[in-house]
Amino acid sequence: MAAKKPKRQLRSADWFGKLDKDGFAHRSWMKNQGWPDDAFDGRPVIGICNTWSELNPCNSHFRKIAEHVKRGVWEAGGFPLEFPVFSTGEVLLRPTAMLYRNLAAMDVEEAIRANPMDGVVLLVGCDKTTPALLMGAASCDLPSIALSGGPMLNGRYQNMTLGSGTHVWKFDAMVKAGEITLEQFMAAESANHRSSGHCMTMGTASTMASMVESLGMGLPTNAAIPAVDARRYTLAHLAGRRAVGMVHENLKMSKVLKRENFENAIMVNGAIGGSTNAVIHMIAIAGRLGIDINLDDWDRLGRDIPCLVNLMPSGKYLMEDFYYAGGIPAVVKELAGKIHRNARTVNGKTLWENSKDAKVWNRDVIFAYDKPFKKNGGIAVLRGNLAPDGAIIKPSAASPKLMKHRGRAVVFESIEDYKARIDDPRLDIDETCVMVLKYCGPKGYPGMAEVGNMQLPAKILKKGITDMVRVSDARMSGTAYGTVVLHAAPEAAAGGPLALVRNGDMIELDVAKRKLHLDVPAAELERRRRGWNGFDSPYTRGYAKLYVDHVLQADKGADLDFLVGASGTPKLRESH
Ligand code: FES
Repeated sequence: MAAKKPKRQLRSADWFGKLDKDGFAHRSWMKNQGWPDDAFDGRPVIGICNTWSELNPCNSHFRKIAEHVKRGVWEAGGFPLEFPVFSTGEVLLRPTAMLYRNLAAMDVEEAIRANPMDGVVLLVGCDKTTPALLMGAASCDLPSIALSGGPMLNGRYQNMTLGSGTHVWKFDAMVKAGEITLEQFMAAESANHRSSGHCMTMGTASTMASMVESLGMGLPTNAAIPAVDARRYTLAHLAGRRAVGMVHENLKMSKVLKRENFENAIMVNGAIGGSTNAVIHMIAIAGRLGIDINLDDWDRLGRDIPCLVNLMPSGKYLMEDFYYAGGIPAVVKELAGKIHRNARTVNGKTLWENSKDAKVWNRDVIFAYDKPFKKNGGIAVLRGNLAPDGAIIKPSAASPKLMKHRGRAVVFESIEDYKARIDDPRLDIDETCVMVLKYCGPKGYPGMAEVGNMQLPAKILKKGITDMVRVSDARMSGTAYGTVVLHAAPEAAAGGPLALVRNGDMIELDVAKRKLHLDVPAAELERRRRGWNGFDSPYTRGYAKLYVDHVLQADKGADLDFLVGASGTPKLRESH
């Protein structure tokens, strides 16, 4: 197809459009890939930002997805150029993929800015890849469209449906409780993840794919089409095609994403029972765009939103079922009375226009707004002397009877301390206690690992008890569940009050009142603070040191302080 000539000079022309030695160099070296002259005729250059990696199984099919994006770009008269960025795979990276989210975001930002692109398609999948690419792209602010890689097919084992993560936690607890053998546990391993794609529970990856769609950064149905469904590849084709159109319209990311888009996404998060990790990621993405989204927004907007979606970890179905039931458009339609109908999306229509004709095909998967799956959908933000800057809990994944609870603290000074003592029969703990974990926040871990959903002691599991109140400055996997208070800020390593908790202190949780209180007199806390030795990170060089020195607390999105905001894509000096 002949390229449609843009009405304005494109950014890429500053590389490819020059009739001088620089233009020669830019085109000539690129031609070693076989591109014809007219690839450089002024058509929009669309970068395909690819997080493919064999070390990130959730994104390991992305080379194929990229090929389908390219078809759409060529068809629309653009010139697609695929490039790799750091792929933050959740299951292998140590000490936690979250440590590298900001590094990947820097990679994305610099790669986009330094290269001749007019628009970009962001290929996202595994948990941190979605926020990292959105953050990096937001700081450049080119026309950008996100395309999720899609969830895996449902896990199937001995006629059971298995969810990513959720069944690992469940089976692990069952082994400890003596309900299944270790051999049965290990046999489930091959059945849990049996196709390409990301975790198919409503964990962080599916939540962030849903955020992409409800923010308006992806095409309708982006969130739920399974990775191996042919329609995922059709969507990739359409995303490539649309990216070219966005360049012609100069539809930059900042023109799409406004406060209303974030508010819509927060409400959708409540309705889908989305991951607590979305709180941090969305605050960080908004921060790149200069939009102040904070914890109070999360509490205010989610407070009245019921959970409509019956998906693990809060419910019983998986993303494949969610797609067949109607997916995000059907959920948005249920939120008709709540959402901002004028919020724009990348396809040029509003979120409401994209959703108003959606249908629900299975009411056991997507419930009606006035007959919800669970009453409490949103994220509750807790405050008190234990978390002056806030902590969060996901009520839909918690036990109703523990939402108001007072218990004796059993303190673990690190995750290693927890692992060493949790199953010691001599540990002085019962089910009324509150498990407290310290030094697992952004600076402390570093990277704020997903260790907040501490497994209960075996001796309590054996009594048939499956939930206790837990409090930490850590995150938890979006696939996990329980009455788990997370993201306590400031974290222990930054001198937050969590550092001062001792065994035997009484802790009060009252979710309805949004309260998290350490029942220790202020004078005693002050005395303990004077005796606190501070926290010395063992990370003294490289990226981890940069991270520890500059990471913001969880309530601020855990971005690096110098990355908040945007630099756009100013004209840069020539390289030679
Ligand atoms: Fe990649 Fe869950 S491990 S999405």
